Amino acid sequence: MTEVVHPFGSHIAQFTRENDVCLLNTHSLRTLFVDARWLADRSHTPPGDFLNLPPLRAPKPELQVFQVAVTLACNLRCSYCVVHNNVWSDATHTMSREAAGDLAREANAVLPPGGLLYVTGGEPLLNWSAAATLLAETRDDLLKVIVTNATLVKPEIASFLAATNTCVLVSMDGDQHAHDSVRRDGRGRGSYDATRRGYGVLRDAGCSVGVSLVIGPHNVDRLSDVAVHLLETLHPDSLGLGLPHFTSRHARSIDKHRVAAEYGRLYDWVLTRPTFVDQIARRLSPFVNETFRFRDCSACGSKVVVFPDGSRSNCISSGPDHLGGAADRWLGRTPLELAECQGCAAIGVCGGGCVFDGLALYGGVDQRNCAVTRVLLERFIWTLRDATTDPQPGTAVKSAVFNRLLERRSRVAVSVGHSQ
Ligand SMILES: C[S@@+](CC[C@H](N)C(=O)[O-])C[C@H]1O[C@@H](n2cnc3c(N)ncnc32)[C@H](O)[C@@H]1O
Ligand code: SF4
Ligand code: SF4
Repeated sequence: MTEVVHPFGSHIAQFTRENDVCLLNTHSLRTLFVDARWLADRSHTPPGDFLNLPPLRAPKPELQVFQVAVTLACNLRCSYCVVHNNVWSDATHTMSREAAGDLAREANAVLPPGGLLYVTGGEPLLNWSAAATLLAETRDDLLKVIVTNATLVKPEIASFLAATNTCVLVSMDGDQHAHDSVRRDGRGRGSYDATRRGYGVLRDAGCSVGVSLVIGPHNVDRLSDVAVHLLETLHPDSLGLGLPHFTSRHARSIDKHRVAAEYGRLYDWVLTRPTFVDQIARRLSPFVNETFRFRDCSACGSKVVVFPDGSRSNCISSGPDHLGGAADRWLGRTPLELAECQGCAAIGVCGGGCVFDGLALYGGVDQRNCAVTRVLLERFIWTLRDATTDPQPGTAVKSAVFNRLLERRSRVAVSVGHSQ
């Protein structure tokens, strides 16, 4: 990424590429393209309305997400797993069908239209009766998503998921080599073949299926190739590439600049073959719509997580509420309020990243997220420059340029838990 300077106050960031200059109002997200000679002439200043600092105030979040872990048990032992590597986990807990029915009624009562019911685990298919109860007994207008390792998918399960309009996120970490090096069972056997089979069964049943990948030492060096391989071989309706969450027994380090560079390469590929990639779309959307992104994750006040024993939290990675997971604990952690984020060029599109990882890994904001967000922002800027001659492109022009990357061709083309 090129060095960003602030020639007209800390909220105006200057990006430079040879003779091209983009001035970005980091709060209103308006863009102004000028050339370097124009800017060098001190008698020139951008229009006043472009320079304005808009009055911004983080809105109070509303409940949007009801996330239920129906069991903490699993048939796999992925090396990085947040469930098995965290001291709070007790794999014996499994939710009863009655408890799932009660939670379905609660979700129906508290979620707004279009809210998200997110069924997870452990492996949720190991407690199919509770998972199915939640999916069948919740309102049809909700977005229903289940995340699974897919190894236990059978045609009856896939048909049920299709019939209840449930979107499925299948966890896959790349090609067979990357996947099997970390996503293994208790005897060390890789799960790629079984997951791939399950994916096919879901597709054959007509389900909306996205793929969710965890970044780590097993795939980071060839992340964009691995992602492209998944996109070209499986054609999922969406792809998510998640940074590895901190776990109390397994803090994995990855090179943030390497991840960011790989994201940049993937973005370049996606531009030529438009695909919904969660982490790209969620930064692009505020840039295109010129709407400041206050929070990156629904754990910042708009989500409740229910564990199999009934305990609750705002964030599954940090465990149940008796460990401190109060729903409102991260309300004030928006980039507008955080000292580290002041003057950052990406402050309007970022939302602050994962609060749990920021605090656990860095004692502040997640620096890996910062590196990725800044690289992507610069890519958006030069894509826009190359696509229009308009010196001050507004939301209509931006939408026309980027629409293909934000288009929702399927219900699962959403940033699950990040856009609700
Ligand atoms: C805990 S699993 C539960 C659902 C199911 N067993 C599965 O693997 O899809 C939910 C998601 O979290 C991801 N995950 C697990 N541990 C993680 C970690 N340390 N960092 C990031 N994602 C993680 C998994 O790959 C999966 O996509
Ligand atoms: S399949 Fe899911 S719950 Fe099971 S070990 Fe892997 S990530 Fe964890
Ligand atoms: S979290 Fe990082 S990238 Fe995001 S606004 Fe703060 S400093 Fe910038």
